[in-house]
Amino acid sequence: MQIIDFQTDSVNFQSVIARCCTVLENGELLGIPTETVYGLAGDATNGQAVAKIFELKQRPQFNPLIAHVSGLEMAQTLGQFCESAQKLASEFWPGPLTLVVPQLPHSPIHDLVSAGLSTIAMRCPGGPARQLIEAYGKPLAAPSANRSGKVSPSCADHVASEFPANNLLILDGGPCTVGLESTIAKIEQEQIIILRTGSIGINELAAVTSLPVIYASKNAELVAPGMMVSHYAPRAKVIANCKTPPKNGILLGYGPQTGDMELNLSPKGNLHEAASNLYAYLRQLDDAGHDTICIAPIPDEGLGIAINDRIKRAAAPRQNSGGT
Ligand code: TXA
Ligand code: MG
Repeated sequence: MQIIDFQTDSVNFQSVIARCCTVLENGELLGIPTETVYGLAGDATNGQAVAKIFELKQRPQFNPLIAHVSGLEMAQTLGQFCESAQKLASEFWPGPLTLVVPQLPHSPIHDLVSAGLSTIAMRCPGGPARQLIEAYGKPLAAPSANRSGKVSPSCADHVASEFPANNLLILDGGPCTVGLESTIAKIEQEQIIILRTGSIGINELAAVTSLPVIYASKNAELVAPGMMVSHYAPRAKVIANCKTPPKNGILLGYGPQTGDMELNLSPKGNLHEAASNLYAYLRQLDDAGHDTICIAPIPDEGLGIAINDRIKRAAAPRQNSGGT
């Protein structure tokens, strides 16, 4: 395990990128920062690297991965972009939007990445992840860098604590600015279907194309294959939408309020702040040994829709497996 904080003056960013490229070329994995959550990245064209991702995460192979690209140009060598998909990519990339498009017949992506589906999910992250992909010249498969079904990592230390026994090189880009996984959208039958909510919401997507935008959750068959009911789960039991915690519970607050509370997702009631704190605070309360984490009600509007989606899954009964 090695964490490289390339933000410090003593570190030469280009040499770090070169070292990361060698790791990827050798079919090994990296922990990388993105604006959403940290990813566990490997060369998406190398079957052995992709198999290592599934193995390390203990992720079932029916659950496909997102291919991370340096931009629309690289994306169009892998998948077919209709006019609306191109518009969405131009508007939101680099950024927290994943687009699911038909895969091109001779795409170099390894079959394991898309789990045998005819479609491929792609996203162009910003910051150092994009610079790495640009330098490497090939797409990276990168699920969130957590063990399957567990809380996603929003800083480099979270990644290290998920895979303590592995000799993983982790690029430390500081805390993730968004803190929730990307919005996943698919264009099908002249409509945009949101498969996973994220910081880019229904109104923002609707503003870019003339197509109607709908939530897949209203139609179970359309949901992303990895959207398991139980997901993002800490060890502790989670109770959502809770104003007064039971005796053995600790309150994770939101907004200005009084009462016995250890942490508050956003004392000011700012949804962006709450999203960026959610995973770190769940981990913190878990590590402190609390049996039950009770999360205060979060307004179900804008970014609150994605936050509530994650909280609902963290609170769901744990018998499911196969999360991301
Ligand atoms: O923000 C993110 O998207 C992060 C960062 C690291 O980029 N990645 C991430 O990956 O959240 P992961 O593997 O944890 O979640 C990917 C989701 C899964 O629910 C998977 O089922 C879905 O994307 N997915 C992948 N390929 C798909 C496809 N072809 N069709 C529908 N859903 C797909
Ligand atoms: Mg995940």
